[in-house]
Amino acid sequence: MQGKTLVIGASGQIGIELVTALRTKHGHQQVVASDIRVSESPELNDGPFEVLNVLNMDELERIVDKHNITEVYHLAAMLSATSEKNPERAWDLNMNGLFHVLDLAKHQKIKKVFWPSSIAVFGPSTPKQMTPQYTVMEPNSVYGISKLAGERWCEYYHEKFGVDVRSLRYPGLIGYKSDPGGGTTDYAVDIFHQALEKGSYQCFLSENTMLPMMMMDDAIRATISIMEAPAEQIKIRSSYNVAGCSFTPSELAQLIKEQIPEFSITYEPDFRQKIADSWPGSIDDSEARAHWNWKAAYDTTKLADTMIRELRHKKKAETLVTR
Ligand code: SER
Repeated sequence: MQGKTLVIGASGQIGIELVTALRTKHGHQQVVASDIRVSESPELNDGPFEVLNVLNMDELERIVDKHNITEVYHLAAMLSATSEKNPERAWDLNMNGLFHVLDLAKHQKIKKVFWPSSIAVFGPSTPKQMTPQYTVMEPNSVYGISKLAGERWCEYYHEKFGVDVRSLRYPGLIGYKSDPGGGTTDYAVDIFHQALEKGSYQCFLSENTMLPMMMMDDAIRATISIMEAPAEQIKIRSSYNVAGCSFTPSELAQLIKEQIPEFSITYEPDFRQKIADSWPGSIDDSEARAHWNWKAAYDTTKLADTMIRELRHKKKAETLVTR
């Protein structure tokens, strides 16, 4: 029997869309979604779902055995802003969750692992524009420290134990199907919801804070591509830089105004500004392009147009249902 895929942290921003994409591709029964809590999401419940705390190794192993899991997408993590508020819990979840998955792969239970890293692995001393794959990395956020450590462990498990682990340094991810939670780049999702609901937005980053971002469709495509690429094409076993587009809050606000002329924005930077200031403004993803043919499809304009169009549809449909 062919092995199944397990998505850990399936209720999160990436998980819901990834589970949908993987089930469409491989069949609903082939993809087991899991999260720490029961999910209400229709997308996750149209196939197998397990309640799983990845910190519980026995439970993880039981689920892997029960479903004959051979591939794992391990997405459960605490994001940057939440991690600053709970450093110890963030370190525990972000590191030990990864160790549990890597250890099962080391003992050959799991054949292939996807684990997301982030632009947060870079720090204030990293060159900010077109940040290269190999550069100074001195992250100063709890989240960034955990992701950089995770990258080093992924490479170590690959070199030492032959674990087939693959990873991407995601930029800020922008999507309309699921809500983000606890990230510094999340303003760029919330701004669209507020623009359509209230016509205004108070931004927690300053107007000229340039950050690398990516439309969720691109992120899902990159994730599935790196997992499907032949192993010899994956020459980097820490994590690949991947770029989408880069913009500032004020540039994004301008694009929103073109479609919602009454939209207004104010700026009230909070503790997340310091995190954003330590991250790159744009990313050089030459290695991902050369090794496994990565290329983003969305620029900032297409991203903004898609978000407004899709959220308009969604909000209209919701109004019809509640009427
Ligand atoms: N989007 C993430 C965050 O803001 C970065 O990986 O925390």
